[in-house]
Amino acid sequence: MTELARLVEEAELAFSQAADSAALENAKALFLGKNGALTEQLKALGKADAETKKTLGAAINGVKQQIESLLANRRASIAESELNRRLAAEAIDVSQDGRGHAVGAIHPVIRSWRRVEELFQSIGFDVADGPEIETDWMNFTALNNPENHPARSMQDTFYLEKKDETGLPLLLRTHTSPMQVRYARTHKPPIKVIAPGRTYRVDSDATHSPMFHQVEGLWIDEHISFADLKGVYTDFLQRFYETDQLQVRFRPSFFPFTEPSAEIDMRFESGPLKGRWLEIAGSGQVHPKVVRHFGLDPERYIGFAFGTGLERMTMLRYGISDLRLFFDNDLRFLRQFA
Ligand code: PHE
Repeated sequence: MTELARLVEEAELAFSQAADSAALENAKALFLGKNGALTEQLKALGKADAETKKTLGAAINGVKQQIESLLANRRASIAESELNRRLAAEAIDVSQDGRGHAVGAIHPVIRSWRRVEELFQSIGFDVADGPEIETDWMNFTALNNPENHPARSMQDTFYLEKKDETGLPLLLRTHTSPMQVRYARTHKPPIKVIAPGRTYRVDSDATHSPMFHQVEGLWIDEHISFADLKGVYTDFLQRFYETDQLQVRFRPSFFPFTEPSAEIDMRFESGPLKGRWLEIAGSGQVHPKVVRHFGLDPERYIGFAFGTGLERMTMLRYGISDLRLFFDNDLRFLRQFA
């Protein structure tokens, strides 16, 4: 094999061993560079005679072209594999499933809230909203629960440093009952309203939370009796729980703002809670003193009020035994109601 032919083979080997473009450029210099093997050949040609120059020159040029085309091929293949490597490294797997849009849902307690509103609106009750920060007078005194009266200790709450104009500290309302007073003082009878909302007490265990929801009901007119309370509330419960297999009883109780007062209990006649009496609301005929605080004459106006816990309603509806689940924000729990 001539020396020139060997150069082609050597170049081919050197190029194929170059792993990347930098190594390839180094290999190229060995053959085609200023001091490369082929360049040396061309330099030597200067000293040759005319005939040799012609034939050898042509041969060297031929080899040079061969090496250049080997180089070009190798360059292309290195560029391709470098591109492939980069594509693989930066790959985005477009076949992967998207994470999707999380679908929001109504919290079970708020679902009950809305349901209660719908049911009472359907029988002509207005829906009212009021402040969670209350005055002592609205939360207690107007409801016939005077300062220093022991009944106040039934409802301990959170007090603000800020005081109202009478010098008493503002407080987080312990029940929705102050809404009876707020609404009745700004509306003319017949008064027929529910007031759902957040309420607060210093209480925390499986069935009590420092913040919870109540819905207040109030119906005042000239002839509203305890019988109306029984009818309205029993019908409400049967519609809320979608069953008439449900009994309701009114158990004598005490609230300063109602006389007589009753605790309302219910009992399912079927289903998992069947047979147990469950406390569901406080209620009673609005006390004459409270009617007077409404700005109305208790000789003429009479009616009933009730207060129900929305968490309690919801727990009985879905068979939930720990009220804290409503406030833990555990999606595994909440998704069951979505
Ligand atoms: N406000 C009372 C409570 O929170 C419930 C109630 C409301 C009782 C209306 C009678 C009338 O316990």
